[in-house]
Amino acid sequence: MRAALYDEGGGYYTTSDRQFGRDGDFYTAAQVHELFGALLAEEFSAIDRALGRPPAFTIVELGPGRGEFARDALSVIRAHHADLFARLKYVCCEISPALRRAQQEILADFATTVDWTHDTDDLAQYGPIEGVFFANEFFDALPVHVIEQRNAELLELHVATGEDGRCHWQTGPLSHPELGIIWKRAGAQLSDGQRAEISRDSIDWLKRIGRSLKRGRLIAIDYGDIAARLYTPDRTQGTLRAFHRHRLEDDPLTNAGKQDITASVNFSALMEYGRDFGLETLSFVRLTDYLIGLGLLDRAAQLAASAGDETPGALQRRLALKQMFAPQGISGSFRVLTMEKHSPQSIQECPVGEKREITEQTK
Ligand SMILES: C[S@@+](CC[C@H](N)C(=O)[O-])C[C@H]1O[C@@H](n2cnc3c(N)ncnc32)[C@H](O)[C@@H]1O
Repeated sequence: MRAALYDEGGGYYTTSDRQFGRDGDFYTAAQVHELFGALLAEEFSAIDRALGRPPAFTIVELGPGRGEFARDALSVIRAHHADLFARLKYVCCEISPALRRAQQEILADFATTVDWTHDTDDLAQYGPIEGVFFANEFFDALPVHVIEQRNAELLELHVATGEDGRCHWQTGPLSHPELGIIWKRAGAQLSDGQRAEISRDSIDWLKRIGRSLKRGRLIAIDYGDIAARLYTPDRTQGTLRAFHRHRLEDDPLTNAGKQDITASVNFSALMEYGRDFGLETLSFVRLTDYLIGLGLLDRAAQLAASAGDETPGALQRRLALKQMFAPQGISGSFRVLTMEKHSPQSIQECPVGEKREITEQTK
């Protein structure tokens, strides 16, 4: 999955910026309407106030895609929260050179506010961060391990290549001992033959976020759920899937580098492991409810009221907004996890999967 999505020479995300929108393979909320970025901009401003308006406020966006969200959020912050804009550093954390170029183009107007990195260790240059880590459809794009329950034992589905050069699944033992530990801590009861996914990368990211963040929040928006609701007995094949041109493809192992591969996010794992790195869960809600809480309905009504002279394109986008309300729309199966880090904490080093103690140094 890592090679198919992120290989430097032929990865799905690394070699092109054409994954998104009508001519691509999928839509994200960032392409649906600029209101998404505008509502989150108000939330960022509220977090800034809650932190007492620190001298430097940093927003790190993980996987900004084509940069639409950053453009929309930054436009609102510049227009309506000048004091915050003056103290703001917006860091785009992006692995794909092609998408980084697209972001640099769309954000050219914000050149002095925006920086790029693809490795959060670089974030040391910003010092301990006070602000927000924001991730929209980032965790679902990280590589996963596929596991299967067989005769009360957890096995792993590895990817093998046949003589014809085609990839196929090959069941074998777990490739890393911590997979079993992670599943015990943050998985669900599986029935015999049932598959599920484990993302070790997500845990690595929580560690980097917890380390870089001095005070502030992680806002993670994605499709997925807590493990018990995600891996129900009827979902025998797990959640790994592939998309091409808005169609669900039969086999994630074909067309490597040409189709999106994704898995629903196990939010239980983010909540459970986030704690290890000083991140406490503040709320976990449906995206629809989250956006309504930020004023989506009022803002949509205002848009409708002032719709008299809108262009056909603006009308189309405004009508697409219903995706944010409708249960079958983009928001229906999405969740928002907000985690908070209160104060500097020392996180003891130990391998992923083991419970660790967090010592609070200051309150
Ligand atoms: C599904 S796209 C979502 C894009 C965008 N957030 C949106 O909502 O339109 C996933 C994004 O995460 C980026 N990404 C995936 N793995 C990454 C990593 N390890 N480091 C930085 N960016 C990564 C991809 O290149 C892409 O920009």
